[in-house]
Amino acid sequence: MSTPNDGSKNRHLGAAKAAKNDEFYTQWADIEREMNAYLEYDPDVFRDKIILLPCDDPEWSNFTKFFALHFVDYGLKKLISTSYAPDSNPWNVNYQPTLFESESPAFDATKAHANGKKFTLEAKDVNDDGLINIEDLQWEYLRTDGDFRSDEVTALRDEADIIITNPPFSLFTPFLAWLVEADKKFSIIGSSNATTYREVFPLIRDNKMWLGRGFQGGNAYFAVPAKGEYAEGVYDDQTGLVKFRNCAWFTNLDHGRRHDPLQLMTKADNIKFSKHKEVRGVGYPQYDNFDAIEVPFVDAIPSDHDGMMGVPVTFLEKHNPDQFEIVGSSEGDYLPTKTYGPKQKVVDGVHMKSNTGTLACYIRAESFGPGTYFDVGYPVKRIYKRLFIRRKG
Ligand SMILES: C[S@@+](CC[C@H](N)C(=O)[O-])C[C@H]1O[C@@H](n2cnc3c(N)ncnc32)[C@H](O)[C@@H]1O
Repeated sequence: MSTPNDGSKNRHLGAAKAAKNDEFYTQWADIEREMNAYLEYDPDVFRDKIILLPCDDPEWSNFTKFFALHFVDYGLKKLISTSYAPDSNPWNVNYQPTLFESESPAFDATKAHANGKKFTLEAKDVNDDGLINIEDLQWEYLRTDGDFRSDEVTALRDEADIIITNPPFSLFTPFLAWLVEADKKFSIIGSSNATTYREVFPLIRDNKMWLGRGFQGGNAYFAVPAKGEYAEGVYDDQTGLVKFRNCAWFTNLDHGRRHDPLQLMTKADNIKFSKHKEVRGVGYPQYDNFDAIEVPFVDAIPSDHDGMMGVPVTFLEKHNPDQFEIVGSSEGDYLPTKTYGPKQKVVDGVHMKSNTGTLACYIRAESFGPGTYFDVGYPVKRIYKRLFIRRKG
């Protein structure tokens, strides 16, 4: 999802994380597109399942509404959503209970602010209108604030078969750990930068989690409660939505795209015909400090190379586990064959000290030309974030 030109937007998502702005509401069409990918692969993926939607609230979130609408055709056994207490959420200081809550016999003015809520839909026509839908949703206050790590929500996690949500961006890593420790099926939204996080990457490498179908055109739109300070082009006044290009679905539910092999040319054909000038007539340099070749574009991966290859992280959007094995990432979990002594960075011919460590891929360069090079006794060029893959079979 990440593209070379989305730096400012990526930085913005980072800033949202730093300020713990977790209020980004998922669009119905994005939920539908992702769930359809799982259903196309396995029409019974949700049948007889208990689905938990934590970090949610049907009063403002589409997840509960979406699954309530599909309760019967998906064949759900039970749908549970939990919401987070307004008092625990710094972005919800002016919270006013809705009429749905305040006119309910269960309403409690203190708990409305201090407690989370639990919403349950089962195959019971509670209002006796002949349908099972959101009108049959039952709710109660939780004992605590609805933090996903609480005993209460953790017990609901344990009861559930599948956990689906857009969790708080600032808590993505602990949220994922909370899912993984329970060994549950899940589908959650997060920053695509997370793929190389120390806590996240091993799950992807070991095929325990992968990217979902993803957002249309790589653009994720979220509703936000207030306009906020967003970088140019992120917030749209007309729609009230923010647009991020670096969001992904992380899941362990299967879908068809991960079984489509990438259509690739041989090494010789790439060198002859590649549309990329970096490859055509040039080939694939060997890293200076790692036993692999550098492949700068996913569509330039040679179909017939048997050794290790360093590829851009966007490869994950196309990964088919029957075609390639993911071996490591340049962000820390591989061992370079060579480490360098103190380095000098050379930017446009000017030598300066470099604090950059040697955990990265380097290729030899002919000279200290334009761009950033490192002087390790000869010029090398640092290559940004690579995954190491190997052909299967
Ligand atoms: C990114 S928003 C997504 C909301 C909704 N799931 C959706 O996609 O429209 C994450 C929500 O998590 C809630 N939240 C924040 N911290 C939480 C925590 N520790 N435990 C549970 N929920 C939390 C916030 O109230 C916020 O609305």
